[in-house]
Amino acid sequence: MSGHDEEYWVSDSNEAMSLQLIRSQEDADALGDDDVAIQPFNPTFTYPIFGESEKIFGYHNLDIKLHYASGSLKQFLQITHDEVIKSTDTPPDPIEETLFRFIPADYTKSEVAFDAVVEADADHFKPLGDKIASYTRASASGKGKGKANGAAPSEDSDDAVVYEMYKTKWDTPGFREYHRRMQIFILFFIEGGSYVQEDEEAWEFITLFERRKRPNSDVYTYHFIGYTSLYPFWCFPDKVRLRLSQFVILPPYQNLGHGSHLYSALFEHMLSRDEVAELTVEDPAEAFEDLRDRNDLRFLVKEGVPDDANFLTGVGIESRGERAAWEAALRKKYKIAQRQFDRLLELLLLRQLD
Ligand code: ACO
Repeated sequence: MSGHDEEYWVSDSNEAMSLQLIRSQEDADALGDDDVAIQPFNPTFTYPIFGESEKIFGYHNLDIKLHYASGSLKQFLQITHDEVIKSTDTPPDPIEETLFRFIPADYTKSEVAFDAVVEADADHFKPLGDKIASYTRASASGKGKGKANGAAPSEDSDDAVVYEMYKTKWDTPGFREYHRRMQIFILFFIEGGSYVQEDEEAWEFITLFERRKRPNSDVYTYHFIGYTSLYPFWCFPDKVRLRLSQFVILPPYQNLGHGSHLYSALFEHMLSRDEVAELTVEDPAEAFEDLRDRNDLRFLVKEGVPDDANFLTGVGIESRGERAAWEAALRKKYKIAQRQFDRLLELLLLRQLD
């Protein structure tokens, strides 16, 4: 094979693909070069795109850069390699044509054009939809900000990094296009994930952004962190069951509490909606189950459920029916799906016994 063995021409598609969220030069400088938010990262899965074995054939030292403007998620694609196989029997795998089926057609391959998009984003990009919640974190990243372990700063303070969540639907102006740019993260990071159907009208989304004030300016810049998609199913007779379908926090932002904030905000949001009877989760990954358990438990503790110790343990409760009624009333109030609620009560009981 052109004097080289097969291995020479095979690339692992997860390693070859490098993703990066790009901020304007000024905003990147304000963070510092080593800030994780602007470092490249790899997809966890590429089998939906490049096939089950996650291998790309026909190139040596293949590098596929898929960069995103950190707010609008407009894309830049650059494919480079040291060598490409010159064999008519075994031609190289098509890369751009393959990716083309999964990303919107408006990506650019020009660095100059992409730089202009990124700069324009910094000045003009605002998240789409209605803001439903926000928070700050104690350990704001950024040059010289030694706030780790301190209290979360006020959202009004000038150097506060604020995280904002926006609710959108297909009819939110511009959102269909936005969704087409962000949906590939589902394939990259959720095992078994697939694109949602745009002709299913009822989809709801919550997107999460970091908001920073530019130094010496009144302009805020917004940077995408993750999102969740939800589908309301009819629930007899006049309610809906909200099913959480997809949930992703991009790797540079994982393990910082953002997933918990997004889940809690969505939980509060569904509690505030009269028509929602319960929240269910489609095919939860283990890491998501963990996150859900931790947050649901924290919520039930905050609501004082363990204070009903007799009901929780059943000690001193005369009839089974009485405990079942207590449980049913709580479950209805907190709109938690039956299986999950049973699990949570068991976990609370274990905690009590500890
Ligand atoms: N500082 C440091 N660590 C923290 C902080 C903080 N302020 N807050 C929480 N953590 C820790 C938590 O203790 C937790 O650790 P533990 O699991 O060992 O207890 C860990 O960080 C994760 O919690 P979060 O940071 O709140 O979660 P994260 O933002 O990383 O999101 C998620 C978790 C959604 C699973 C993310 O990793 C992800 O998107 N993964 C890839 C996609 C995926 O699997 N999605 C779920 C698919 S299932 C579905 O879609 C229905």
